[in-house]
Amino acid sequence: MNTLRRASGIMRIKEVYIFKLLLMAAVTVCATSNSVEDNPIDSKDQCNAFCFNTLKPLLDNAMETKKKIENCEVSIQDRDEKLQKLQKQLVASEMNASIFNQIENIFNEKIKYKDKLIAALEEKSGSDQNEIDSIKRQLDANTEALKVLKTQLASLNSTVSLHNFNAKQQHEKLVQVKAMNCVPFENSTAIHDIDVAGFGKVSVLCDGQTAGPGWTVVQRRFDGSVDFYRNWFEYREGFGSLTGEFFLGLEILYHMTKSLPYELYIQLVDFQNVSRHARYDSFLIGSEDEQYMLKSLGTYSGNAGNALRYNLYDSFTTYDQDHDGWTSGNCAEWYSSGWWYNLYGNSNLNGKYFYDEVNNEKSIWWYNWKGYHALKSVQMMIRPKYTSI
Ligand SMILES: *[C@@H]1O[C@H](CO)[C@@H](O)[C@H](O)[C@H]1NC(C)=O
Ligand SMILES: *[C@@H]1O[C@H](CO)[C@@H](O)[C@H](O)[C@H]1NC(C)=O
Ligand SMILES: *[C@@H]1O[C@H](CO)[C@@H](O)[C@H](O)[C@H]1NC(C)=O
Ligand SMILES: *[C@@H]1O[C@H](CO)[C@@H](O)[C@H](O)[C@H]1NC(C)=O
Repeated sequence: MNTLRRASGIMRIKEVYIFKLLLMAAVTVCATSNSVEDNPIDSKDQCNAFCFNTLKPLLDNAMETKKKIENCEVSIQDRDEKLQKLQKQLVASEMNASIFNQIENIFNEKIKYKDKLIAALEEKSGSDQNEIDSIKRQLDANTEALKVLKTQLASLNSTVSLHNFNAKQQHEKLVQVKAMNCVPFENSTAIHDIDVAGFGKVSVLCDGQTAGPGWTVVQRRFDGSVDFYRNWFEYREGFGSLTGEFFLGLEILYHMTKSLPYELYIQLVDFQNVSRHARYDSFLIGSEDEQYMLKSLGTYSGNAGNALRYNLYDSFTTYDQDHDGWTSGNCAEWYSSGWWYNLYGNSNLNGKYFYDEVNNEKSIWWYNWKGYHALKSVQMMIRPKYTSI
């Protein structure tokens, strides 16, 4: 900020200097012509007809040139004022790239005016050559001063760029602190820190590519590297690795889906690499006291079939906590999983990983698509229904 203030001060001084130079240029012309114009009769009287006839066109030329310079000066002065206004804006506001572009334009216009001036002077072949040379020299000096100004502008600009960069970084940090899910990370497929209301800070894997931006991955299977036959505590807390296979955890799922209306997106891929999906537009699960019941699914859409519908309002069951509707057995044990079950399940995404398409109730399957045939990879993701919230 100090550097900026200082540089902007220098700019103002330079501007005044340039303006003075321009004024001097004009005055040089004025001085030559005014002395004659002020007393045209005297000149005529003091001069004979020949003298007058020879001088008159020269004086007229000088007068015309002077007017042009005056006009240009008014424009330049006008722009000087604009420039000063902009500089003030610059310091007052948060340093803004668009202001620099405007200053740049003004600079370019000034250069154009200079060229026009020189052209106008050169046109007047009748004018005094020394006078033209003098004005040219001053305009050249003027251009040099403008070049210095431009260099300073560039250095100011880089300071502003740095400011903008810092501001952007701070904004990103702010977003990270404020993120409650993957929505702020848009199309990212990386791991990000979020802060879930009622739960706290947690790292999550985002997937902004499979089904649009902003999805938070809650479960992922693809290589069998993680054992999913786990107990209640582990399903509550989550397990696995965010860079590999994992289950995010029922407790965090409860807190996330409670805070906002969420959608659920399930992607399934078979061993022929055919991909299908099921999407539910209002996903909500209960608290641990409610045994993480599947409380809402909303409307189904997709091409994998509405398998989860059968287990709506069912509690979560693990081999050590049986909340299913099968009185003589435990579904989690039967299906080698942890999931929402009633008398049976209609999907088994936390089942045992098989490396080919076996027909096995313990495998990872989605009944409405391929019965009990094992799937190669599955991924469950959630995203707020209204991403602008
Ligand atoms: C940047 O400049 C534009 C146009 O001059 C203005 O609308 C905008 O508010 C400025 N932004 C900041 C951060 O100063
Ligand atoms: C200021 O910097 C931006 C990018 O950093 C660049 O595009 C622009 O041309 C620069 N303007 C000047 C006057 O140097
Ligand atoms: C992700 O978003 C950024 C910024 O919006 C964009 O530049 C980038 O191309 C996007 N990447 C993909 C793979 O869509
Ligand atoms: C499925 O895709 C994987 C990776 O792209 C490839 O190695 C494999 O051969 C494919 N399998 C079939 C049946 O196309």
